[in-house]
Amino acid sequence: SLHSHFTLSPSTASVDIEGLRRQIEELASFSDAPGPAVTRVLYSDKDVLARRYIKSLMVQAGLLVREDAIGNIYGRWDGSEADLPPVASGSHIDAIPYSGKYDGVIGVLGAIEAINVLKRSGFQPKRSLEVIMFTSEEPTRFGISCIGSRLLAGSEELADALKQVVDGQNISFFEAARSAGYPIHQEDLSSVFLKKESYHSFVELHIEQGPILEEEGIPIGIVTAIAAPASISVDFEGNGGHAGAVLMPARNDAGLAAAELALAVEKHVLESGCIDTVGTVGVIELHPGAINSIPSKAHIEIDTRDIDEQRRNAVINKIRLSAIRIAENRGVTLSKFKIVNQDPPALSSSSITATMQDAARQLNLHSKPMISRAYHDSLFMARISPMGMIFIPCYKGYSHKPEEFASVEEITNGVKVLALTLAKLSLE
Ligand code: GLV
Ligand code: MN
Ligand code: MN
Ligand code: MN
Repeated sequence: SLHSHFTLSPSTASVDIEGLRRQIEELASFSDAPGPAVTRVLYSDKDVLARRYIKSLMVQAGLLVREDAIGNIYGRWDGSEADLPPVASGSHIDAIPYSGKYDGVIGVLGAIEAINVLKRSGFQPKRSLEVIMFTSEEPTRFGISCIGSRLLAGSEELADALKQVVDGQNISFFEAARSAGYPIHQEDLSSVFLKKESYHSFVELHIEQGPILEEEGIPIGIVTAIAAPASISVDFEGNGGHAGAVLMPARNDAGLAAAELALAVEKHVLESGCIDTVGTVGVIELHPGAINSIPSKAHIEIDTRDIDEQRRNAVINKIRLSAIRIAENRGVTLSKFKIVNQDPPALSSSSITATMQDAARQLNLHSKPMISRAYHDSLFMARISPMGMIFIPCYKGYSHKPEEFASVEEITNGVKVLALTLAKLSLE
């Protein structure tokens, strides 16, 4: 057929480089931190402005825009066989506190631009092409990662959790959603669930967030698997008291229990003996948080990951045992030990991987297979659709900090590979 003759050559793939540059800066301006840092938290005023901006870009690209109950945003380009499951691409635009301009962002802007590239080239999709902007990939506000994609993938567990959670200001998920223009009720959450095979395929473009592509001078990474993430929320409670008057033998300091657990996390991770096991304590909060008051409550959040799920689970078990032992030894109460999520890894579809590799080759771009150590919405899209991810290099592998950077040339390479991949998948 005519379709199968479609090619996007290095010369015909015209990416609007200046437009992309402008869009990245514009999006970064919707931030609660001073630039170059970006802070954009779920359902905040800045998130709402950024969402409005993304919808306007989708409309400009001629996409039909819709939103689901929790604000996953979809922009569709109808194919000639619009009743077939569409091909989708997208990522997130929420940004953790004091992070950068590229994480997630280039997967959303890049997918919209990939559609623009295909339109300019005269391509006619067979399967519809859809851009998805997922709600809250980052766990910042409610402690739960990938809310949008996890719910799309049908997580009843998440639907239940969302009914309970509050943020640091004691605002519920539903109140927060309502204030952002999503007046949902508990019963509406399941309306977000998608059936398996709703999509023919899902492809996400993302910065590598690691140093390999840059170090090796390779423009395109083809993700074969995503490592298994987990997070744990822990509270210790003690009696607190006056920092001068309560003598050391009489104390049960919740803060020291948290500090000891943080060191135990590092120890258990290192005991795995494998470089792929990682663990981080990124949150420790002490109550009442006064220099002259013994902490009576300590809250800590633990992130641990591995490409091997069993090895990751073994670390979680050791952390649990340590938390119990530390509480006993210090005479504090372990009032909470909650595994917030303990997700399995995800494998890319080998057929999408092959398609991405072909696309890179046709565009004269070297590629290499690699593992994603960071998690992505793709981890959950893989539960309901064949999945693939395209990585591009980023400066020194920096991510989740303001120094995060990818050049528009590098982004352009990724957009081209994405565009050609989407075109090929659309014709399947
Ligand atoms: C998501 O941003 C992650 O922590 O991998
Ligand atoms: Mn991130
Ligand atoms: Mn991301
Ligand atoms: Mn991520």
